[in-house]
Amino acid sequence: METLTRTRIVELFAKKPFGTTVKVKGWVRTRRGNKQVGFIALNDGSTIKNLQIVVDLEKFDEETLKPVTTGACICATGKLVKSQGKGQEAEMQADTIEVYGTADPQTYPLQKKGHSMEFLREIAHLRPRTNTFGAVFRMRHQMAIAIHTFFHERGFCYFHTPIITASDCEGAGQMFQVTTKNLYNLKKDENGSIIYDDDFFGKQASLTVSGQLEGELAATALGAIYTFGPTFRAENSNTPRHLAEFWMVEPEVAFAELPELMDLEEEFIKYCVKWALDNCKDDLQFLNDMFDKGLIERLQKVVETEFVRLPYTEGIKILEDAIAKGHKFEFPVYWGCDLASEHERYLVEEHFGKPVIMINYPKEIKAFYMKQNDDGKTVQGTDVLFPQIGEIIGGSVREENYDKLLARIEELHIPMKDMWWYLDTRRYGTCPHAGFGLGFERLLLFVTGMSNIRDVIPFPRTPKNAEF
Ligand code: 4AD
Ligand code: MG
Repeated sequence: METLTRTRIVELFAKKPFGTTVKVKGWVRTRRGNKQVGFIALNDGSTIKNLQIVVDLEKFDEETLKPVTTGACICATGKLVKSQGKGQEAEMQADTIEVYGTADPQTYPLQKKGHSMEFLREIAHLRPRTNTFGAVFRMRHQMAIAIHTFFHERGFCYFHTPIITASDCEGAGQMFQVTTKNLYNLKKDENGSIIYDDDFFGKQASLTVSGQLEGELAATALGAIYTFGPTFRAENSNTPRHLAEFWMVEPEVAFAELPELMDLEEEFIKYCVKWALDNCKDDLQFLNDMFDKGLIERLQKVVETEFVRLPYTEGIKILEDAIAKGHKFEFPVYWGCDLASEHERYLVEEHFGKPVIMINYPKEIKAFYMKQNDDGKTVQGTDVLFPQIGEIIGGSVREENYDKLLARIEELHIPMKDMWWYLDTRRYGTCPHAGFGLGFERLLLFVTGMSNIRDVIPFPRTPKNAEF
C-alpha cells in the first residue's frame, strides 16, 4: 500500500478534498459521543479550527479509543466528507487511529473547562495548546512577517545589531550585566570599584536596551536599515505593559527629517494592522468573540484614521484645560513633566479619540541623541500613543551636529570612552537621519486585544519571574 502523507488541517479546510482518504496528526481537544459513534475534535496548530473525526464504534474496539483523551497526540486516517453537523464544513470518517502519546486525564492541566489567564501563565509550557494562545502565537508570527515584508518592500536592509554591548543607548541605567566573573569574589580597586580587566570582555558589558546606536552606524552607510530583535530592560516595572525581555523593531533612515519620520511611523503601524486584518481572519474572529467584542472594529478604524500630530506644548495646554474644567489626574501636569499614562490616555482616548504622535518634547525628559530644536528647550522626539496601550513607538530625529551632540553627552555625564565610535558618524560624513523603536509586544497587545503583555510573548520575563 502506498504511504499516505500527512495533511495539515488548515489545508484540509482550504482545499476540501471530499471523498479522498487523508491522514492528519494532532492533539485531541475533546472526545465525546455515545454507544454507536464517537467524535474527536483534533487540532494540529495550523489553524484555530478543529477537525472533527467521526469514529464508528463498530469499527474500533474500546482499547484503541480509551487513551484518546483530551491532550493526547494521535495520527488518524480516513475519508474527508462534507460535515453533517453544524459549525464545520468538513469532517473525517476514521479508518485508523494511532496514539502517539497519551495525556493522563487525572493530571493533564488543560481539561475542557475555561482557565484564567493567570493560571495559564503558570503553565506557559502548555498554554500554546489552548485556542487563545494558539491564536496569539500564530498572530505573533504573522506580525513578524508583516514587519519584514514592509521594510523589505521599501528597500530597508535587515541589519543585526549586537545583543551584548558596552554602551547604554537610552542612558537610563536599566541594563542587565553580562559577566563570567565569580560574583562571590570580585576584584576591586582601592575605591571599591569592580575591576573588569580580567572579565570575559575586559570591560563592563551588558544586554542591550536598544540597537539604535549601531543602527545609526548602519543607516549612515546603507541608507535605510531596520533591526528586529530582543532587547532587555532591568526596570522594576510590574505593569501589564512592561517586560524585562521584549522584542523591538528599530528602523533608521538616512536623510529623513521629522515629517518623513512621522509618515513612516504611521504608515508602518497601519500596514501591520491591515496585515492582521487580511491574514489572521479566523484567529482575530475568535479573539474578538471570546475577549473583546470591539477588537476587529478598532483595528479597522486605526487603518482608516489619520493620526493626530501634536506638539508636546499643545498637549500640556489640553491637559491643563481639562484640569481647569474639573478633570482629576493623579499626577501633576506642568510644562516639562514626563507624561504619565493617565495623561496619554486622556489625550488619546478622551480628547482626540484616535492615535496621537506627540512631538517636540522638553530635552530634559528625552535621551541625549535627539535633535535639538532652535528654541534651546525642546528636541525632535516622537512618541506614538495608542488607545489602551499608551506608548507603542518611541523615536526621534537624531542630532547630527557633532558639537551639539558632544555638548549634550558632556552635560549628561555620559562616559566618552563608550561613545567615540558613535561620535565618529558625526565626524565623518554626518547627515540628517531619524528612526524609531516599536515595542513588538505592544503592537501585539493592540492587534490581539489581550490586556496583559505577559500573554503575547511565549515565555515572559518580568521581575521575579524567569520560569521556563
Ligand atoms: O521609547 P524607547 O525606550 O526607545 C528606544 O529604545 C529608542 N532607542 C528607539 C529608537 O529610536 N530606535 O523604546 C521603544 C519602544 C517603546 O515605545 C515601547 O513600545 C517599547 O519599546 N518598550 C517596551 N516594551 C515592553 N516592555 C518594556 N519594558 C518596554 N520598554 C520600551
Ligand atoms: Mg519611550
